[in-house]
Parts: sequence; structure tokens; C-alpha cells
Amino acid sequence: MMKIVLVAGARPNFMKIAPLSNELQKRGIGCTIVHTGQHYDDTMSKTFFKDLQLPQPDIYLGVGSGTHAEQTGKIMIEFERVCLQLKPDLVIVVGDVNSTVACALAAAKLCIPVAHVEAGLRSFDRSMPEEINRILTDHISDYLFTTCEDANKNLRKEGIPSSKIFFVGNVMIDTLKRFFDLARESDILDKLGLKKDGKLSKYAVLTLHRPSNVDQKDVLKGIFSALNRLSKKIPVIFPAHPRTLERIKSFALDNMVTYVGKFSRNDLKKSKKNVWVMPPLGYIDFLNLMSHASVVLTDSGGIQEETTILGIPCLTLRDNTERPITVREGTNIVVGNDPERILSASFDILENGPHGKKIPKFWDGKAADRIVEVLTARFMT
Ligand code: UD1
Repeated sequence: MMKIVLVAGARPNFMKIAPLSNELQKRGIGCTIVHTGQHYDDTMSKTFFKDLQLPQPDIYLGVGSGTHAEQTGKIMIEFERVCLQLKPDLVIVVGDVNSTVACALAAAKLCIPVAHVEAGLRSFDRSMPEEINRILTDHISDYLFTTCEDANKNLRKEGIPSSKIFFVGNVMIDTLKRFFDLARESDILDKLGLKKDGKLSKYAVLTLHRPSNVDQKDVLKGIFSALNRLSKKIPVIFPAHPRTLERIKSFALDNMVTYVGKFSRNDLKKSKKNVWVMPPLGYIDFLNLMSHASVVLTDSGGIQEETTILGIPCLTLRDNTERPITVREGTNIVVGNDPERILSASFDILENGPHGKKIPKFWDGKAADRIVEVLTARFMT
């Protein structure tokens, strides 16, 4: 029996490992789940294991936060120990976070085959740490599982042989499809007062955590000023990443937001003006919130893909995207972080609705099945 280690570390990893863990389990193939501890708050980690019905991690490395080098280095040291002890036949890493590159590198140096799920995406912007993580992980991996034809082309252009590239589709969409019906039962809309007597209000959803958007006071203030103008028309709901919450406080921008949800018990009685800030939501509540929104504004990668499948308009508050298929075929528009541009694009959507609603090839809920098929053919024959 092959020994597989499945790695996860940060919030966007959990929805990617869930279908893989599930598929391996269905086929009676055991795997060891290693959680690096890059994300450690309950709202960023534990909640997702519960929502996604994932088995508890077998090994928790507990590395926590730090500078990029500190975090990557700590994960490498701890993960190398795990590899030396377990001697796996294969390490599977997903996405583009520091845990992804750190574990891939530690395994590759021990000559353990590495599979990278969500390979080949490129923003062509090396100022983003994720872009460095993507390039390095792809070049030291043995199996590159891609979500789209763009990714295949990027990898071939970088000289990666076609024999290593497998176009299998999108595991995040496997998870979305699996939990969509359950998400419909979430009561988040009632809790926030967005649904009264079965009638749904219009609202926008915001997520924001990239250093380029939240680490400079003027930039963050500009985004909030645009969204506070939007909130005069429809509420803007913002489940905030811990780093962004910390920035709102340290930049003294509290007066530009209204705290709701767990932050404020009487929130429904209070007048809600400005952007509504609340702690991060779990997968099920967030999926329900996103799937009823009039528009989603985000700097996340995965949300660009999820809104495309849901047919919900998405405005990406970045200058580029590593997921251009969501712009070409889906509902995504890249608008950057200029306040006027954000506002005019939002108003345009409120008037005209989403553009484009094509479902990208293989975003059909069966990506994990294809991945495990490839791996079993390689390792079990
Ligand atoms: C990481 C990923 C990013 C991904 C994002 C999703 C990298 C380089 N970045 O960014 O690609 O989009 O996760 O959330 O891997 N913190 C907490 N509690 C936690 C985790 C983090 O309070 O559970 C705070 C800490 O102050 C920490 C900061 O958030 O220093 C940043 O965390 P980190 O994991 O370094 O990067 P993210 O911004 O979360």
C-alpha cells in the first residue's frame, strides 16, 4: 500500500485537501494529513475541518506566524522530520501558500515524489509571495495537476515536460459542489438581518487581506471610502482576516466601519452604516453569504473561481490575476484598488448584473477523482 502525506497549512488549503482526502478514503487508500499550523486561529483553521467534514490532522507542526523566511524555514525543518520518520511514497501539496513551497522543497530534497495540485497558475507579478511559491513548487514537483489550459501553457513555456502535467480540473469546485446544498441551510443571512420574512435584501460581500491592500493606511482608507459610498446603496458585509482587523485598529480606521456579528451582541438593533466588519466566517456560512450576494469584492484567489461557478459578479481588487480564465469565461473583473474604479465597477454591476457565465472545462466536481486516478495508475501498477 502506498504511503501518502497530504499537506495543509492555511485557510485556502483546507477546501482543496478535503476532496482529495475523501477520494483517497473512498478507494481505501490511507493518507496522513499534516497541518503545518501556518493558520492557527479556530476561525482560520478548526472551523474548516468541522465544516468540510475533514478528519483531524494526524500531525500538527504548530509553526505559527513569522516573516516569510522564518515561517518557510520552520515548516521545512519540522516537515523534514516527518518525512524522515514516515518515509512516504508521495507528498501532495496544494495551492500557493508558504506551507506549499516549504513542504514541497523538504520532500524533494529527500527524493520523495511531490504532487502539486493547482499547478501552473501565474500572475507574472513576482512582488506577490504566492507567485514565488507557485514557480518554485512547480519546478520541484513530479506531478503537476492543473485547473485550466492557461496553466498547462505556462508550465510548458517554463520547460516543464508535458509528461508531468495533468489537466484534471479544480478541486475547490469539487468542494463547492459537495457542500452547496448544506450551505443553503446556513442561517447566516437571518443572523445578519439580510433575510426577513423570507425576503432577501441586496448586499455586497468583501474580503481583503493582501499586504498590497491592507498594509498601507492610505490604500486601505481609500478602499473603505469607496465601499462606504457603495454601502449607502447596499450593505457591504466584510468577514475580516485577522491581519486586516489588526490593521484597521492600528491605522485608527475604526470610524470607517461598523462592527457586527460576534463583535457586537446588539448589532441588529444598531443602525448599520459603513462597511460591516465581522470575524472570519466558516466555509458553509461564507458559501451561503457569497451565493446570494449582488456583488463580491475580493483580493483572494479562490473566491474568483467560486463566484465564477456561482454566477455571482466578482470584482478583484488587485492589478492582476493568476486566474485569467475567471475573467475570460467567468464573472470576474480585475479592477485594482483605485477607489473611483471600484465604485464605478460596483455601480455598473448593480445596474447591469454579471457578465459571462461559462463554466470552465473540468470544473465539474470530479477533479479529485481524476487526480487519484492518475496517482493510482502510477503507483499501483
Ligand atoms: C496566507 C497566504 C495567502 C492566502 C492567505 C489566506 C502565504 C504567503 N500567504 O496569507 O496566499 O491568500 O493565507 O488567508 O502563505 N494570523 C492570525 N491568525 C491565524 C493566521 C494568521 O492572526 O490563524 C495573522 C498573523 O498576524 C499573521 C498574519 O495573519 O502574522 C499573516 O498570516 P500568514 O499566514 O503569514 O499570511 P496570510 O496573510 O494569512
